[in-house]
Amino acid sequence: MSKLEAVLFDLDGVIVDTAKHHYRAWKELANELGFDFTEEDNERLKGVSRVESLNILLEIGQVEKTEKEKEELAARKNQRYVEAISTMDESEILPGVIDFLQELKNENVPFALGSASKNAPAILKHIKLFDAFDAIVDGNSIAKAKPDPEVFLQGADKLGANYENCVVFEDAQSGIEAGKAAGMYVVGVGSADVLKGADDYITHMTEMNVERIRRK
Ligand code: G6P
Ligand code: MG
Repeated sequence: MSKLEAVLFDLDGVIVDTAKHHYRAWKELANELGFDFTEEDNERLKGVSRVESLNILLEIGQVEKTEKEKEELAARKNQRYVEAISTMDESEILPGVIDFLQELKNENVPFALGSASKNAPAILKHIKLFDAFDAIVDGNSIAKAKPDPEVFLQGADKLGANYENCVVFEDAQSGIEAGKAAGMYVVGVGSADVLKGADDYITHMTEMNVERIRRK
């Protein structure tokens, strides 16, 4: 990529490992409803909004609920999740993230958060990265969830960057599809066997640097 204008980061699984907290909270809910929920099942919820995640969970358990009951269940899950993340601190930032953000700052490449989570601002505050981002787009400001590109398009717009000169970092299949639908260069954080369609893959942010992107 000859002209790198901006970088867009997913939060959960890219900046910080909150997937384990989401998983635990959903699993507890599933168990209360009388069925099990595996880590493989959880893969389907990554990058997916809270409401849509609940729908998938109920489908896995073959349980039917009214809209009102669903609201209560989603609130119950979120309460547990909020409790779990309340004790997070900067030690939970994933390896290589701080160095890469610092390199982007040194190179004057702006970066934004593009997350489906309504808890994103709280998490960023817990890990003391809230002020590091030039823009934040999260589950509170988007109407259409990933794989819709809205979250990344909004992020690029806020940074005044051309979509084709933006790089997205994503650990979820729905997020990779959202980044590609936005016309961006997408780096999958995880294995190419699980994540399909990214332009590049890393297992940790430690493998990433500006030079690697510019060479593409
Ligand atoms: C991220 C996570 C999903 C989660 C979604 C909504 O995309 O990867 O697992 O369901 O955010 O999070 P929230 O904090 O709003 O429930
Ligand atoms: Mg994610």
